Amino acid sequence: MPTKSEAYHNHEAPVYDAKYDENPFFTKVYEPVTWDNIRRFLPPLPAQVLDAGGGTGRWTMVLAKMGYEVTLTDISQGMLDVARAKIEAAGLAGQVTILRQDIRDMSALAADSFDLVLSKATRSATVRITPPPCASWPAWPRWART
Ligand SMILES: C[S@@+](CC[C@H](N)C(=O)[O-])C[C@H]1O[C@@H](n2cnc3c(N)ncnc32)[C@H](O)[C@@H]1O
Repeated sequence: MPTKSEAYHNHEAPVYDAKYDENPFFTKVYEPVTWDNIRRFLPPLPAQVLDAGGGTGRWTMVLAKMGYEVTLTDISQGMLDVARAKIEAAGLAGQVTILRQDIRDMSALAADSFDLVLSKATRSATVRITPPPCASWPAWPRWART
């Protein structure tokens, strides 16, 4: 039985990117501001990045194009299917590992695996970057090399 969020995002997946791409607020303000927050924390290449709750892979694609090895996780298979199609079309499949994982249980991921853990969550422009300020995700430091 999918969670409410998973069902919602499976339904949204086919139109998710268009909602961002066709809205000037997102393309001209929201995403540039988000990127400005992310880019400050980027480790030097080569590096491993976890994009947790990465959805259709919008930030995964940006990072993979820069040369990062990215693990993209999400609870929604629909979102991950869209991501996979884009990643393969861009020739980035060799750099991206896609895993269906609930962010509340990421025990399948080995400790100390990532140089950066990123989770860009909602349209409120929440960008969480290791170390996590969010108490509900206490396992985050475990995945990141310190
Ligand atoms: C607003 S979208 C953001 C997607 C992506 N980070 C981006 O910036 O475009 C939120 C994502 O979180 C995922 N999500 C929601 N609950 C989750 C959970 N418990 N575990 C993993 N992913 C989850 C959704 O499926 C969705 O893809």
